[in-house]
Amino acid sequence: MSEPFSARLRAATWTDHKAAEQTTFLDDLTRGRLTVAAHAALTAQYHLIYEVLEEAARSWQGDPIAGVFHHEGLTRLPALAADLEFLLGADWRDALSPVPAAAAYVARLREAAFTDPGAYVAHHYNRYLGDLSGGQYLARALARAYDLTLGGDGLRFYAFDLGDLDAFKNGYRAALDAAPWDEAAQESVVAEVKLAYQLNTDVLADLGRAHPNPFPPEVIAQIMRHMNDDHADDSLLICRAALPEPTRPRTSSAAMSGMDAAGIEFRAVVDGVDTPVRVPFAARLTERAQVRVEVTRLYREACQILGVPAR
Ligand code: HEM
Repeated sequence: MSEPFSARLRAATWTDHKAAEQTTFLDDLTRGRLTVAAHAALTAQYHLIYEVLEEAARSWQGDPIAGVFHHEGLTRLPALAADLEFLLGADWRDALSPVPAAAAYVARLREAAFTDPGAYVAHHYNRYLGDLSGGQYLARALARAYDLTLGGDGLRFYAFDLGDLDAFKNGYRAALDAAPWDEAAQESVVAEVKLAYQLNTDVLADLGRAHPNPFPPEVIAQIMRHMNDDHADDSLLICRAALPEPTRPRTSSAAMSGMDAAGIEFRAVVDGVDTPVRVPFAARLTERAQVRVEVTRLYREACQILGVPAR
């Protein structure tokens, strides 16, 4: 028996999926390296996209082939509006300005998804099966990173009232397998899904340019070099103040070993033993210029704790 179309579609587009999944923006966003504003910006782009996708879904209602894919429980626009209102306040519609790739995405939907049933299904599959799959992982990561409640305010987009999501996805794949598409029609669905992945990857790349990680590895390396070349004594004071009192005099040196938006890390030598020390910042930092101010504050605070005069 030949491979079902859903399996062939998945296999033929999985490298495109990898490219979408592995964008720097999604990586930074899910690891909490960005601010909640970046999550809001992605949500705003989704609003622009789903507005058209769900208009297309309505236009195919009753169609014997394309009409079977949409389900009321998939509709995302009200959830997106609620998330944006929570994240941005009453003026959230002011944020509905497309990045260049979202404008291209919406233009492609308008061009193909209202007239070509295969193209519509391709975009529908790409977004909704993604939301029901990796989207669920994203929601958990976003909840953790930006202090949101899974399924609650700011994350309603990711919460589906569809019962068992795996069972739903299996039903969706069965509908793909049952569509009466010949080889050529299937090929054009595959090509449109590849394009849909590309458009998503491009939107994420545009968002990455608008919301860069303020502390990429090369910036951390520069800060580390500066701290270790010019401020080794200050690092030692910061570590001594952070360590329990009895170990303070037994701490002989410290070198910065890393940082992120929430804190700075050192390797201190305590009783001759290499010891990791993490010192949290007073607040999450969102730009590089704040590092100097915050580390100076930590130094002054350490001097006070240790009873040492500050410079
Ligand atoms: C952090 C990012 C992502 C992760 C971790 C992720 C993860 C996954 C996983 C594990 C699956 C397989 C689920 C299953 O078979 O039940 C999946 C499926 C899928 N994902 Fe993603 N994904 C991510 C981003 C994306 C993006 C950006 C898109 C594009 C809009 C996307 C579209 C899809 C689609 C269409 C499927 C269904 C494939 C199929 O079974 O036919 N994903 N994803």
